[in-house]
Amino acid sequence: MKVIVVGNGGREHAIAWKLAQSSSVEEVICTPGNGGTAFENKCRNVEGKTQDDFIRIAKENNCDLCVVGPEDPLCAGLADKFWEAGIPTVGTKKSPAQLEGSKDFAKNFMHKYGVACADNKTFTDKAEALAYVKEHGAPIVLKADGLAAGKGVVVALNMDDALKAVEELMEGQLVGDAGRKLVIEEYMRGVEISILGAVSVNPELTKAGKSCIVPFMSARDHKRLLDGAKGPNTGGMGAICPVDDVTDEILAQFNKNILEPTLKGIQAEGWDYRGFIFFGLMITKEGPKVIEYNVRLGDPETQAVLPLMDFDFAEMCKAVTEGTLNEFKTAWKPGYVVAPVAVSGGYPKAYKKGMTIKIDTAKIEETGAKVFFAGAMENRRTEGGIVTNGGRVLACSAQGNTFDEAWKKAYAAIEHVSFDGMFYRKDIGLPGAAESN
Ligand code: AMP
Ligand code: GLY
Repeated sequence: MKVIVVGNGGREHAIAWKLAQSSSVEEVICTPGNGGTAFENKCRNVEGKTQDDFIRIAKENNCDLCVVGPEDPLCAGLADKFWEAGIPTVGTKKSPAQLEGSKDFAKNFMHKYGVACADNKTFTDKAEALAYVKEHGAPIVLKADGLAAGKGVVVALNMDDALKAVEELMEGQLVGDAGRKLVIEEYMRGVEISILGAVSVNPELTKAGKSCIVPFMSARDHKRLLDGAKGPNTGGMGAICPVDDVTDEILAQFNKNILEPTLKGIQAEGWDYRGFIFFGLMITKEGPKVIEYNVRLGDPETQAVLPLMDFDFAEMCKAVTEGTLNEFKTAWKPGYVVAPVAVSGGYPKAYKKGMTIKIDTAKIEETGAKVFFAGAMENRRTEGGIVTNGGRVLACSAQGNTFDEAWKKAYAAIEHVSFDGMFYRKDIGLPGAAESN
């Protein structure tokens, strides 16, 4: 089969790489793709920007399957359009995409179906929001309702910061109109993990008893810029998979209090949700609770989770669309993956683009690591053919039988990558590196 992958991040490079490993995949069209997919086995980049472009490219190339990476096109209804065009698509339709597109919508869903999460209240009136914050005190969490590219959440540790954040979010100064509706949430203490998974639910499948969510191995992102979980928040400085502190007991609580009610909710709403889901979780004293849902795979978690899959990912994607995911057998490689991310100097603030990425491919191959590119584009006029094009440039993803082995391989590999201003955390997966309250 021919698969089209929509997106241009590190997640999409990992998705394309994993799809290409399937013997049933002839070619992966990446639109627009990035500097990594440009050189990946069986993969080809095709420039595309709009929904109409993506559909046209899929048709012109006789694609049999589409996988949508990021949330924006899903929230804008791209999966609906692909299905209308007759192309089976992994990526939820528009209505359930609101689980990521609107924090208020997601919280209402969680409360309606009894999914373990923090208490909250939603406001459109600033005076009422300020009064609520004064009544409840800090620490407290303020969340812009709409999509805000990870910038819409303020965890306020004191009252001054909380009141300032309400002003800035609701007056549109921080994230524009996304913050005019504000979700104010109880502050949860604990340590964070991510559980990604595949979802295959629609009314016909539910009737036939085939609707399901298949969770992947646990993973952990490291969102702060600096070692020891310090510095500003970023899009993710590195990931590990699996996470040792996720015990069987925590997994059982996750299944009972989060996964099962989420599945029941998706069924009860009558949605057509065939795609991926991301549970952002806080492991609290009372067990895991949902911080957020995303309707896509995590980035950079995907770069750590997919290498451990010991099954045909393309066949799984097909099963998601065909409604046979409930019968699909998953298996996982033993061991661990560690994937530190290299970013451009200055990120998450302003940074330069167009830096030549120097990679000693032979040395990296010796370490056994795989480089997944993100903010990087093809430029055949430069040595190596790839230049930086974003803040998070690449991840070195390495597998090992033990965590230590994976860690050493990943960090040995990243030493063989360089570009002007390159920066990376040295502690991904080590004690004290995870975000915790
Ligand atoms: P979100 O965009 O909802 O994932 O939030 C961004 C980050 O804010 C999360 O990764 C957490 O570190 C933090 N956060 C969000 N909600 C809470 C909460 N209720 N309690 C404590 N920290 C939170
Ligand atoms: N790694 C967090 C996210 O993808 O949202």
